[in-house]
Amino acid sequence: MPFTIAIDGPAASGKGTIARALADRFGFGHLDTGLLYRAVGALGGDPIVAARGLSAGDLQRDDLRTAAAGQAASRVAAIPEVRAALVDFQRRYARTEPGAVLDGRDIGTVICPDAELKLYITASDEIRARRRALELGADESVILGELRERDARDAARDVAPMRPADDAVLIDTSALSIDEAVELAVGLAQKAGA
Ligand code: DC
Repeated sequence: MPFTIAIDGPAASGKGTIARALADRFGFGHLDTGLLYRAVGALGGDPIVAARGLSAGDLQRDDLRTAAAGQAASRVAAIPEVRAALVDFQRRYARTEPGAVLDGRDIGTVICPDAELKLYITASDEIRARRRALELGADESVILGELRERDARDAARDVAPMRPADDAVLIDTSALSIDEAVELAVGLAQKAGA
């Protein structure tokens, strides 16, 4: 049986970094599920058609990391048929041997409710904006507004809203270095049997 780690949390909380580090440490696959929604948003046209026809090549586009792509992703992610079209691919990926780490917004609640370990990663709005502004070379106050708008939409939607699963371990990375956050997550994964 593969070992599945579900990681959720708001934008720029550090979940991607922690997910990649866990996958490296345990030799697991890693799926950044935000990329699926970013690709659907970036493809344009009817998002339901785009989601149903999504291919691996669509995830390689260079323009998926921008703030605009994040906003477009958040909008298409509120459409139930878009989410439904992406479920099977994510669940299949979660069964990768010997294990898989998936990060997103609804992994612990909807995609992998039986994951062996669920983490919910947060950090203060200001710290998340500072990190993302450094990463993108953008203005911190503009990024702060963008993150808040996206989080509010992701948490308020009717289908699969962003929220911690009841059995998720909450990690606030505001006062942690990357190494500290990763070591905390690695320890939890070992304890869970990874
Ligand atoms: O993780 P990210 O910032 O790349 O995600 C971009 C958007 O995609 C996010 O604002 C909401 C949506 N998303 C989602 O609804 N469910 C997921 N599992 C992952 C992302």
